[in-house]
Amino acid sequence: MAEPLLEARGVTKHFGHVQALQGADFTAWPGEVVALIGDNGAGKSTLVKTLSGTIRPDGGQILVDGAPVRLTSPLDARRYGIETVYQDLALAPDLDAAANLHLGRELFRGGLLGRLHVLDRGAMRRSAVRAFAELGVDLQDVDVPVASLSGGQRQSVAVARAVAFANRIIFMDEPTAALGVVQRGRVLDTIRRVRDRGIAVVLISHNMPEVLSVADRVEVLRLGRRVARFTAAQSSVEELVGAMTGALDPAVNGGGA
Ligand SMILES: Nc1ncnc2c1ncn2[C@@H]1O[C@H](COP(=O)(O)OP(=O)(O)OP(=O)(O)O)[C@@H](O)[C@H]1O
Ligand SMILES: [Mg+2]
Repeated sequence: MAEPLLEARGVTKHFGHVQALQGADFTAWPGEVVALIGDNGAGKSTLVKTLSGTIRPDGGQILVDGAPVRLTSPLDARRYGIETVYQDLALAPDLDAAANLHLGRELFRGGLLGRLHVLDRGAMRRSAVRAFAELGVDLQDVDVPVASLSGGQRQSVAVARAVAFANRIIFMDEPTAALGVVQRGRVLDTIRRVRDRGIAVVLISHNMPEVLSVADRVEVLRLGRRVARFTAAQSSVEELVGAMTGALDPAVNGGGA
């Protein structure tokens, strides 16, 4: 039996008085798209940040390939093949798209120049153009600072960056929120393509039809806890919304355990 690629068990995290995660569980398997859904404030972004090394959980366990790990930084998570598209994108606004794509993973020229750490801007530019073309992103100019791109273009740069480097799991925190219809379709196609390479894609989205069209499974977070899991092909928008809001809880429906 295969192990989950990544698992969270009973993860807790508080910010002051706010208990953002109250014993959250989460599982991602190889080669699946798993949607992580929940209302605003349910703890989705916090969970993603604990699983990508950005924030330290107060308690609980994180397992990679079945073994407990401590993710101390995003760099540490990357070493496990974990890439993240953050909800706030985490791009460097003053750098151009190519430099953003290679942020923290700059390419250097070989030979003596490599030892002198001279950036290979040509190589980074070419690889960026390739990455954006693969995603169908139409950037007129990869040399302008990301700050001057449109919101949707910036989102595409963040997605291209994660896709270019992930080899195990990609978290995408609302990657299509700022996208138009065509670009949204391309990102969803990219998600399927990445999944077919055996990578797990974790998609956070408030768009339920989008979730059902691209996800294989759905995990539902409410008040910092996993409250339901669904096979996408066997569930409906009504069921997902019911689980997110608690309307489907047995107690609310008058049923009992
Ligand atoms: N850095 C922070 N400082 C203080 N409180 C925070 C911080 N980050 C998150 N929280 C709180 O933790 C809770 C969960 O927030 P989180 O961003 O994880 O929710 P979410 O499910 O991603 O919501 P959304 O769908 O709106 O993005 C919220 O009550 C939020 O206010
Ligand atoms: Mg969020």
